[in-house]
Formats: sequence, C-alpha cells, structure tokens
Amino acid sequence: MGKVEREVWATKIGLILAMSGNAIGLGNFLRFPGRVALYGGGAYLIPYFIAFFLLGIPLFWLEWAIGRYGGLRGAEWLGPMFYVITRRRLGRRGALIAAAIGGGLTLAVGLLLDAYYTNLLGWVAYWAAWSVSGKILTIKSMSEAKEVFINALANPVYNLVPWIFTLLVLALIVAPGVRRGIERAVKIMMPTLFILAVILLISGFLIGAPIKPEWNSIKGFIWMWTPRFDKLADPAAWLEGTGQIFFTLSLGIAGIIPTYAAYTRREEDLALSALTSATLNEVAEVVMGGSIAFTFAYAFGGPELIALVQLGKISPFGLAVVAYPAFFGSLGIPGAILASFWYILLWFAGVTSAIALVNVVAAIFKDFGLSRAVGSFITIILLLVFGLPITYEGMVTGGATSYLDFTDFVVGSVLLVVTCFFESVFGGWFIWGAEGLEEINRGALIRVPAWVWKYVISIIDPIFLLAMILWLPMTVRVEAIIESSPIGAQMAMLSSVFTALLFIIGAIIGYRVSAKKFPE
Ligand code: TRP
Repeated sequence: MGKVEREVWATKIGLILAMSGNAIGLGNFLRFPGRVALYGGGAYLIPYFIAFFLLGIPLFWLEWAIGRYGGLRGAEWLGPMFYVITRRRLGRRGALIAAAIGGGLTLAVGLLLDAYYTNLLGWVAYWAAWSVSGKILTIKSMSEAKEVFINALANPVYNLVPWIFTLLVLALIVAPGVRRGIERAVKIMMPTLFILAVILLISGFLIGAPIKPEWNSIKGFIWMWTPRFDKLADPAAWLEGTGQIFFTLSLGIAGIIPTYAAYTRREEDLALSALTSATLNEVAEVVMGGSIAFTFAYAFGGPELIALVQLGKISPFGLAVVAYPAFFGSLGIPGAILASFWYILLWFAGVTSAIALVNVVAAIFKDFGLSRAVGSFITIILLLVFGLPITYEGMVTGGATSYLDFTDFVVGSVLLVVTCFFESVFGGWFIWGAEGLEEINRGALIRVPAWVWKYVISIIDPIFLLAMILWLPMTVRVEAIIESSPIGAQMAMLSSVFTALLFIIGAIIGYRVSAKKFPE
C-alpha cells in the first residue's frame, strides 16, 4: 500500500457538520413526524430507539470505519471499498464481485434517490421564494394553496426552474472540493439551520391558538408524546421505526457516509465523531423536527389535520407543501417570516444531504480520470434526466407522484437495507480481524467495545437486515402507489427499468475500476 493522494477535511468541526448535515434532512423535519403520527405517537419511539441502538449506531460506526479503511487505500466510494475489505477473505475474484455489488447499489440508489430528493427540494425552494417575497400572504386557504401548487407543477417553468437552481447550487458546492466547497458550505448552512430550527421551535410553543381557540399548539406537543401502545401490535410500526433510522442516519444510502469518512485523517477520532454526529441528528429529529411539526400542525388544523396524516389522506410532505402555506399566509407578516424560516430551513437541510450524494457520484467519475468539477456537473445532468419523469407525471396528471413514491419505496426503503446487509456481511473479515476495531478506535477518545463490533454488527445485524429485506415488500401496498396515478403502471415500470439499468452499469464500473485500481 503506497502513499495515496487524497483530500482530507480541514477541521474536525467541518467533518462533524458535514456528517450531521448529511444526516439531517427532509427526513428529520417531515418523514419522522409523519411516521410518529402514523405509528402511535410516543409509543413509536420504542421501536425507533431500539433500532437506533441495535442497528443505527453500530452500522454507522461500521460505515465510518469502512470509509477510512478504504480511503487510506485509495478507494473513495463503496464499489472499490468493498474490494479492499473483502480481498483477503474472498480472494481476488470474490472481492471483484463484491465490488460489483457495491458499485451497482451505489449508482442505482445514488442517482435515483437524489433525483427525486432534489425534486422535492425544488418545490421547497418554490415556496421559499413565495415566502420571502411575501406573495404567500395572498394565500388564505388550503384549497388555494393546493391550486397554486398544482398550477406550478403543470407549468414547466415553475416546475423546473427551482429544481434546476437547486441542482446548480449542489454542483457549485461539490465542484471546488471537500475543503473549499463542502466544508465551507456546511460551516455556513448548518449553524444557520440550527438557529432557524430553534426559532421555529420556540415559535411553535409560543404561537398558541391563532386559528381556533381550542387548537393550542402545546396540545400538539402533548399529542406527539402521548403513547398509543396498541399501535405497537402492528408489525409495520417496528419495520417503519427501523426504516426511519436508516433513512435519517443515511445508512446504506449509496455509501455516502463511507465516502465522507474516506476524507478523514489516519489518526482522526472516528468513534466519538460518529457518535456526536448521530446524536446531533437525533436532537434535530426527535426534539426539533418532532416539536416543530406537531406544534404547528395542531395550531393550524387541530386533531383533524393530524388525523388526515394518520389516515394516510395526506403525506407529511403534502402537509408541508399544500397545507402549511395556507396557514402561514393567513397569519400576516409574522406568518410570512415564519414561512420563510421554515422553507429555508427545509431547503438547507435537504441541500446539505443531497451534496453528499453528488459527491459520491463525482468520486466515481474521478476514477475515470475526470476532475471533481466536471464530475459534479455531469452528475447534476444525470439527476435531471432521472428526475424528469416526476416533472412529466406532475404535468400530465395534475400532481400525481407515483414515479416518486415507487422509486422512494424501492431505492429509499428496500435497497438501503440491502446495502447495509452487504456491508455487514462483506465486513465480516474486516469486523473479525483486528483491523476493523483498530480502524474505528484509532485516535478516538472513546472505545467501541469489541463485543458491539463483533457480535452486534456481524451477527445480530445481518439477521435483522435479512428479515427486513424479506418482510418490507409485503408491507407496502405497491398497487396503491400504482393506482394513485393514471400513468402509475408505466411510471413504476420506468422506475424499475432505471433501477435495473443503473445497477448493471454500476456493477460493471465497480468491477472494472477495482480491477484496474488494485492490480495484482
Ligand atoms: N438522512 C437524510 C434525511 O433525513 C436523507 C439523506 C441523506 C439523503 N443523504 C441523502 C437523501 C442524500 C438524498 C440524498 O433526509
């Protein structure tokens, strides 16, 4: 192993902000509260935190360790990383196959997930513009908000411009490099995000009952924390509690954590930095995301609005883009200010997540000799291509999102778990040999205990993950997604074809790049 030229984070705070910025995203502020509403309020936190400790933290550590181990050996993304961690035990051929699996999962999940995620960010940016300009004050009811939104979807200009703007920002952040681009951006965006979140958190508690006297925002907070234990009898609560941990920590998402971890110094503290990042994410999710969502939702629509989410009549994201604008709009100038904070918060949260993926795809292009800057711009063009069906479907159907929902299910729920499964299995030698534990603990202020490392990660977790893989497809009603749109069947087909195609291309790239990078 010769000395490898590679980028490194300039500061520890930069590393932690980038990692927590990657974790803190729309999932914290929209997906989490939605799941809490669906699966039993406070009771949902039981499966959620069990998953956090049993799978979340251990796999998070594993991803950090795989990342630096790979980074020190010239592997900057999951494909080649799978090669280096399995080479000794699986032999060259086996390791190349592992690299192919890693490559396929990276490209399929990476491009398809970021394509729809940035699309959502485009809609968030659209409302941010309405809020900051004060135009939101002209909206007085949910039906008006819905109309504005559907009209925007139907109009290619309003639909595409905020999204393309978001994509350009991503490329501009990733292109200059880890230090000059990503680290600088997160050092500005993450503190701003925390300040906005605290302001919204306090406002949520203080807003009281602006719409109807009995809809006091504090009651929303109480609603969230009241446990409804009967919901725990539903297996879906357990599966969704676990799924949310994966999504929110970005576990298994195209190896974004391993790639960020590849830029850490040899002696950098990984064990504690990872724990800190995960804790920040939980604070942002359970304390901030949950409280903000429930206080505002209750003040705006009382138990009836929450019931709509519970019954699946409106998605949490729908709430954010068609219900909230109306309420903010009816609160006058303070409403416009709060709305600006809210949409800017969401956009910052999403951008600091989405750059991590652009960064991974750019890392793949680097292995083909393209510069980071060129790679970043090609990446956003690909995101545009794979996200275009969302725009198309929105336009022709007046707002149906079956492509988005189907893709979210396949890549955003199932394939992340599949990726983590392979990480924990391929990590076998790495986990059981001395190097793995040494990698995560080197230079760290805390020690990851050997039993967590060996037994939890490589035995308990793969069993759990396999059970989830078998179980997940049975819980989601794919037909419901398909039937939600007049062109649902075609869209689901298109999404599946894209997934398969990208997996194959990614697998070939993972195999070839590893074979070339590590000649024997
Ligand atoms: N953890 C993020 C969230 O809670 C999800 C996420 C992380 C993500 N990285 C991403 C989504 C990259 C898209 C692209 O929202």
